[in-house]
Amino acid sequence: MENAIEIRHLAYSYPDDTATEHVVFQDLSLDIEQGSFVAVLGHNGCGKSTLAKHLNAILLPEGGTVTVYGLDTKQEENLLAIRQQVGMVFQNPDNQIVSNVVEEDVAFAPENLGVPSEEIRRRVDEALEAVGMAAYKKHAPHLLSGGQKQRVAIAGVLAMRPKTIVLDEPTAMLDPQGRQEVVSIVEKLSREQNITAILITHHMDEAICADRVIAMDDGKIIADGAPKDVFTKIDLLQSVGLTAPQTTLLLKALDDDGCALPLDALSVDDCAQALFRQISQAKA
Ligand SMILES: Nc1ncnc2c1ncn2[C@@H]1O[C@H](COP(=O)(O)OP(=O)(O)O)[C@@H](O)[C@H]1O
Ligand SMILES: [Mg+2]
Repeated sequence: MENAIEIRHLAYSYPDDTATEHVVFQDLSLDIEQGSFVAVLGHNGCGKSTLAKHLNAILLPEGGTVTVYGLDTKQEENLLAIRQQVGMVFQNPDNQIVSNVVEEDVAFAPENLGVPSEEIRRRVDEALEAVGMAAYKKHAPHLLSGGQKQRVAIAGVLAMRPKTIVLDEPTAMLDPQGRQEVVSIVEKLSREQNITAILITHHMDEAICADRVIAMDDGKIIADGAPKDVFTKIDLLQSVGLTAPQTTLLLKALDDDGCALPLDALSVDDCAQALFRQISQAKA
C-alpha cells in the first residue's frame, strides 16, 4: 500500500518566553497509509495540533522530515502541491466560514486557485452531495447547526480534491448529533472515496470505527494499532489520562466481576450482542 504521509525522526519545539524552548517532538516517526481512516488521541498539550500542522506544511520540522505524497514539506516549491493534497478542518466551524452563502463558501478555495468556473460548479455540487448538504446550497452558513457548518467546512476542503483530510478536533464544539454527523461523513469519505482521513479527537467512541488508533502522550506514540487492540490496553490509556470507550469499560467491569466477556466488542451493537450471549448462557 502507498503511504500518504511519512514522518521520519521529527523534532519540533516552540520558542518560549523564557530563553528556553518548549520541546513538543524529539524523535517521532510515523507512516500513514493512503485511504486509511486514522484516529489520533491524546490529552491536551500532547502535540496533536502540532502534528496536524506538520502534515500540510503550516509548521516545518526542525529535525527529521515530513514527506507528503513524496513531497518534502521543507522544500518551498512543494508548498502549493502539498496544500492541495492535504486539506485541514479545524475545531471552530465559525472560524472556517468565509462567505454568506453555502455554495460560495465551498467554492472559495478552488476559486483562489483559479479553477475554471464550470469545474468549480461541478466540484461544489459533488462536495456538498458527499457531506449530505446539497439541499442547503443557497442557505446562509451562519444559520446552520454546528454539525452542518462543519460538514460545509469539510465540503470546502473536498472542493480542493485532496487525497488526505486532517480534522483537528472537528467535533469539540458540537452536540452529540453534530458529532455523529461529522464522524460518519469522515468514515464514508475514507471508505467510499479512498480519502485518507486523520481524525484528531477527544472522544474515544469516535475512534471506534477507525482502521487505526494512535494514542499519544508528551510528543510520543504510546499505542498504535487496530481500535480493538489499542482500547483493550485500558491501564496504559489511563496512565496517560485517556480512557477506553464506554463499551469497553462496561465489559471490563463485568469481566472483573467474573463474567467472561470479550473486551474488544467496541461498538454498542457488538457490546449488546456480547452481553446478550452471556445472559442467554446464564439462563440456560
Ligand atoms: N504557538 C505556540 N507557542 C508556544 N507553545 C505552544 C504553541 N502551540 C502549542 N504550544 C505548546 O506545545 C505543546 C503541544 O501543543 P498542541 O500541539 O497544541 O497540543 P494538543 O493539540 O495535543 O492539545 C503544548 O504544551 C502547548 O502548550
Ligand atoms: Mg490541539
